[in-house]
Amino acid sequence: MKFIVTENYEAMSRTAARVISGYVSSHPDCVLGLATGSTPIGLYRCLVEDCEAGALSFKDVTSFNLDEYRGLDPQHDQSYRYFMEHNLFSHVDIDPARTHVPDGACPDADAACAAYEQAIAEAGGLGLQLLGLGHNGHIGFNEPAPEFPKETHCVALTESTINANSRLFDSADDVPREAYTMGIGTIMAAKEILVVANGADKADIVRRAFFGPVTPEVPASILQFHPNVTVVVDKEAAALCQ
Ligand code: GLP
Repeated sequence: MKFIVTENYEAMSRTAARVISGYVSSHPDCVLGLATGSTPIGLYRCLVEDCEAGALSFKDVTSFNLDEYRGLDPQHDQSYRYFMEHNLFSHVDIDPARTHVPDGACPDADAACAAYEQAIAEAGGLGLQLLGLGHNGHIGFNEPAPEFPKETHCVALTESTINANSRLFDSADDVPREAYTMGIGTIMAAKEILVVANGADKADIVRRAFFGPVTPEVPASILQFHPNVTVVVDKEAAALCQ
């Protein structure tokens, strides 16, 4: 595992964007796994700048997002499809038909998840997967649990995730209670993984995820077993790591 500590959010974003642009430049027709949340917004901004400067192209890239709220349609301003359109897709030259986000509007959870898993397999599997980190160690929406879930599935969100994400909705009551997420097995099958985290509120979980015991109670800890992981954090998030 490469653990890179940067000075601040901007430096974290630029460093992580460089990992992604390097990957895309050397694998122009790659499959990128993408993430939402506030952490990657800065790195998406850097990628947009690189594209605008002509230094990067997503023309032949295929993307799969980690997760989506169940019950929100793609036009909802808190859906992860909307987030991706707004923060990345509409500003770069990616082919919209090659961008994938689980279908939150699909009422048949099993069908939505199976179709997603199959689409990833048909694309040849994930190349580079970007991840943020939840305060309880969740990746995607894989919450702490007695075991690591394997494939894309439907989850009931924990109170802590609902509360953390309620800042983006009018109230906690408006946050969907369920979501579709890639499984830990789906994520671990990616060839490379890039994790970003910033801020003092992530310091404890960064230490537990990357330097503590590997346990499904801290889902991100499984990444310690992946052969090609880069973690990019700011110094506040690294404060409790030796
Ligand atoms: C959400 C997303 C995760 C994300 C996490 C952290 O619940 N499902 O994919 O990594 O929260 O979000 P943030 O970057 O806003 O702290």
